[in-house]
Amino acid sequence: MEKESGSMKSSSQTRTEGSKEFEFTARDFERVRALIYKKAGIALAESKQEMVYSRLARRLRATGISSFVTYLDRLEQGSGETEEWEAFTNALTTNLTSFFRESHHFPILAEHLKKVKEPIEIWCSAASTGEEPYSIAMTACEAFNTLTPPVRIIATDIDTNVLNTGANGVYSIDRLDKMSPERARRFFLRGKGAREGQVRVRPELRQMISFKQVNLLADNWGVSGPFDVIFCRNVMIYFDKPTQGKILDRFAPLMKPDGLLFAGHSENFLYVCDEFKLRGKTVYELDPDRKTSSAKLRRA
Ligand SMILES: C[S@@+](CC[C@H](N)C(=O)[O-])C[C@H]1O[C@@H](n2cnc3c(N)ncnc32)[C@H](O)[C@@H]1O
Repeated sequence: MEKESGSMKSSSQTRTEGSKEFEFTARDFERVRALIYKKAGIALAESKQEMVYSRLARRLRATGISSFVTYLDRLEQGSGETEEWEAFTNALTTNLTSFFRESHHFPILAEHLKKVKEPIEIWCSAASTGEEPYSIAMTACEAFNTLTPPVRIIATDIDTNVLNTGANGVYSIDRLDKMSPERARRFFLRGKGAREGQVRVRPELRQMISFKQVNLLADNWGVSGPFDVIFCRNVMIYFDKPTQGKILDRFAPLMKPDGLLFAGHSENFLYVCDEFKLRGKTVYELDPDRKTSSAKLRRA
């Protein structure tokens, strides 16, 4: 589900191209960057101008608006909660994910689940199209050797399109290419007839998960915890360090004392937050020596 488009061009190249359907100036790009940063915390790199053009040109076509200036004016005039704001945000997220991505995390998760007190609560906070929360659910089933383990998963994302895909639980069969045949058989139903080439997650897995929109930048997340596990993988890379720090400070009080926080392979939370310490393999736990109040004061 990688939405990242191929060629990245510089601002000046894009400006001088005559063949574009819509004019897209460096000023337009700056406006987009400011808007998506404010809305979702996503810090778009300079190099993303071409990608942004191709994703948002589709919104101009869909809305029948003939220029970026008008499109962005209208967006700015809206409350931030309009349908177009949702479509704008959905267009600019990057949703790359897969089943059992960063597979070294799942045996650690399984061991943890066997140790903690039931019922077990897990928050998957950047769930994308659902492969990550379903991988968590499969791991729980395997850990407890049942399709109905004592585990509840809340799967959230800012992007409403990917949440719908996750909630449907239907995938192209090639998404299971790297999964063992035993797992695939145990947890998926194969489509037949018109659904040939597709698989559906078993209803028991689907029932373990609630999908819900949560913007990690919002003041109120509407999730209460306390959580045994939080997955927050490969989303912090889109945020700047102060934003990462604020989100991590808010995760800490939502965790059970022995809870685990799973991060993406290229994410390092050690220098942005004092609440967590590294346990290893980009898995974090609450730091018993943390000085919550001084960290907050520094960031205020
Ligand atoms: C690259 S995917 C990572 C998916 C999954 N966690 C994984 O590692 O495979 C990043 C996800 O973060 C979501 N996202 C971006 N900004 C967000 C925000 N402010 N709040 C919540 N989710 C956000 C995107 O919509 C996208 O689905």
